[in-house]
Amino acid sequence: MIKPVKLTLISMLLMTSLSVKAEHQVTFTLNTNQDGPRINKNIYGQFVEHLGRGIYEGIWVSKNSNIANTNGFRNDVIKALKELKVPLMRWPGGCFADEYHWRDGIGDPAKRPTKVNTHWGGVEETNEFGTHEFFELAEMVGAETYVNGNLGTGTPREMAEWLEYMTSDKNSTLANERRQNGREAPFKVDYFAIGNEAWGCGGHMRPEYYADLYMHWATFLKTPKGHRPKFIASGGSGNARGLEWTDVLSKNITRNMDAISYHYYTLPKGQWQEKGKAIDFPVSEWNSTIVNTLKIDDYIAKNLQVLEQNDPEGKIGFYVDEWGTWYDAEPGREPGFLYQQNTIRDAVVAAANFNIFHKYAERVHMTNIAQMVNVLQAMILTDKEKMLLTPTYYAYQMYTPFQDATALTVHTEQMAYEKIGDDTIPAVTISAAKGQDGNTYLALVNLSATETSDVFLTLNGEKLKYAKGQQLTANKLDAHNTFANPNRVKPVDYQTKVKSGKLNFNLPAASVTVVKLY
Ligand code: AHR
Repeated sequence: MIKPVKLTLISMLLMTSLSVKAEHQVTFTLNTNQDGPRINKNIYGQFVEHLGRGIYEGIWVSKNSNIANTNGFRNDVIKALKELKVPLMRWPGGCFADEYHWRDGIGDPAKRPTKVNTHWGGVEETNEFGTHEFFELAEMVGAETYVNGNLGTGTPREMAEWLEYMTSDKNSTLANERRQNGREAPFKVDYFAIGNEAWGCGGHMRPEYYADLYMHWATFLKTPKGHRPKFIASGGSGNARGLEWTDVLSKNITRNMDAISYHYYTLPKGQWQEKGKAIDFPVSEWNSTIVNTLKIDDYIAKNLQVLEQNDPEGKIGFYVDEWGTWYDAEPGREPGFLYQQNTIRDAVVAAANFNIFHKYAERVHMTNIAQMVNVLQAMILTDKEKMLLTPTYYAYQMYTPFQDATALTVHTEQMAYEKIGDDTIPAVTISAAKGQDGNTYLALVNLSATETSDVFLTLNGEKLKYAKGQQLTANKLDAHNTFANPNRVKPVDYQTKVKSGKLNFNLPAASVTVVKLY
């Protein structure tokens, strides 16, 4: 049943203030015994690029810094990332990857060349953070690794040698060089991509040309037995380009490809020239952000239909290896650093995307939010020695029980919708899974800027009495954490129980709720 609700004049005029008004009524049914696919933990992966203060200052401060560190890595950030259970990190780019020459980032740091980061702000790149530092970071955090190779300005030989340097257990000159640089055992490369955004910053190629290059280069990427990473072809983005690239790559790359990647960024205004602000935005931009972020659902579905046709056996994964919100640069900041504040809107966007990724977990085995620290939709912001956790960090933390969980099917019985211009959005999205600990978890996102939702859930399969977990919300649509007030947006404990055979959730507008069922 559709229950259209009109935004009142008051709610539209209120700008970013959150007003609680009439309730949406929503009902779902969940069968706790009906198993779906595994939700790969790497759906919660992170992207780390040499961009702005994403690595330098954000993660790496060097050993002689006044900021508390272990081997050059900031202690506060590493602790927060460990607590977040980051499962996977992608490095060194992004656009940066196609200009990165791995030899610049190995050996004595004092002797490493200083280059110019031509993509991001034209700043000096000291190469202090290189291959060894990336793997040390991943090992400290306990994350799997995704290395993005340079197709744009590299050669097949350079790429093959990097892989040999990282993975060889032989007595080869390259493996011995790694040993001399302090690493005896091969590094564990879990994923390796050949180029990035080959349709754009990676070389402005046609997909047919890229597919040929991929086949050629991948032929020479050899690793010892047991050390082969999953190889990723760099796919398209958005709507039409995404489909074209998925189609051409899945038809033309006939070997050495485990997955095709895909990028989608959420821009409030849906255009790159003027994207919309990170804070201080009107209600209309909350709404358009939600409309734009939900588009990924349809884009993924269409890409998976193409893959279903070209690869019915399901051998090729579909990895959304860049996604998240992208706002206008803050006035006074270097635009090439892509630094932006992060509000409750970002947390709601993140959670809405998680629920979509869970739906497609059969083929979507990895996603990486852009980016982990200080860049775009970050988990963590730093200002020299200060650090804060963003609302997006808390969304990731609340969803950790979904890592490697088994998806459960939720049936929508009654949904309320909001009409946003020509678009219609559901009031609530929901996802459920059986966690690795055997418990059932439920995530509910109230997408509405203004309306609370009264949600009823009928449970089939198990006798459950109550639900307990956390809720993240705020009293303003652009509520965010600052260095002066780092705890403004934080999850609080939440509990609800079964009433007349149904679990009843009262979800505030603009909220994320994750509970365990008892
Ligand atoms: O995440 C920032 C940039 O966005 C990446 O470097 C690039 O791949 C994409 O266009």
